[in-house]
Amino acid sequence: MPDIAYIQGKYIPLEEARLPLTDRACYFADAVYEVFATFGGKVFLFDEHMARLERSLQAVRIPFALDRQWMAERVAEGIRRCGYTETLIYLQISRGEALREKKSPTASPPTLFMTFRPKPQIPPDVRERGLSVLLVPDDRWARCNIKTIMLLPNILAHQKALDNGFDDAVFYDAQRNVLHEASSANLFLAAGNRLITPAEGPKILSGTVRSYVVRLARENGIAVEERDVEVGEILRADEAFLTGTTSEVLAVVRVNQTPLGDGRPGPLTRRLHGLFLESLKHL
Ligand SMILES: Cc1ncc(COP(=O)(O)O)c(C=O)c1O
Repeated sequence: MPDIAYIQGKYIPLEEARLPLTDRACYFADAVYEVFATFGGKVFLFDEHMARLERSLQAVRIPFALDRQWMAERVAEGIRRCGYTETLIYLQISRGEALREKKSPTASPPTLFMTFRPKPQIPPDVRERGLSVLLVPDDRWARCNIKTIMLLPNILAHQKALDNGFDDAVFYDAQRNVLHEASSANLFLAAGNRLITPAEGPKILSGTVRSYVVRLARENGIAVEERDVEVGEILRADEAFLTGTTSEVLAVVRVNQTPLGDGRPGPLTRRLHGLFLESLKHL
């Protein structure tokens, strides 16, 4: 089965897809994106991803008129054509093509492309043992709630974590001493039977799975606090986990050199992942 790209209105093999060097994405990372996936063959939280894409487009003033029905049809066709059991869809919209100058182009329309690839699965042994994370000062910009492709700080933080033997990085604000999020996932702590997660705002991405898990927890009688979370709280937490489209609900069992709880995925994390998987059956 081929990986597929949708670009310039056509579905073509991904390896044949090309973006002009003059695309604003190449020069300036002047583009926004979404990553979403299928569960049981159906696109998960499509409307939530489209709503966030609309917010990102508006925030950076890329004039792309997003028609959700039109997009849903293009996505469905891509999924059908690649034929994978579960598909990961990457969607990017840039400000279009122009010679390299700062002012926005007026002659060329925004460039949309999508890629359709197999959804990566977290290996069962990783899920079983949980992740170790390295706390890294957040050196990203002040508008992390906009999903732009400008991800160099995220990539460098993730690589720093890997180079030091950790699975991922968690950003914190070194001045305010509060936690933000992981390099491509949101962060939750558990203290007793309570969940605590950094409140939405300009320093984190409003994760689609984050909101879904907050709602799921509350529906199941688990209290969730959305607020500033001090760095010390994760080191004292009983449990922690990440949420995201590919992570789902994924345990964190060590922060820097500090094990959380007994150093294994805790009961609340396991319960929430169970509730998450169960809920997908009723979508
Ligand atoms: C920085 C960051 N935070 C959080 C998330 C999780 O978002 P979602 O739950 O919509 O996958 C992502 C996903 O890519 C991300 O890049």
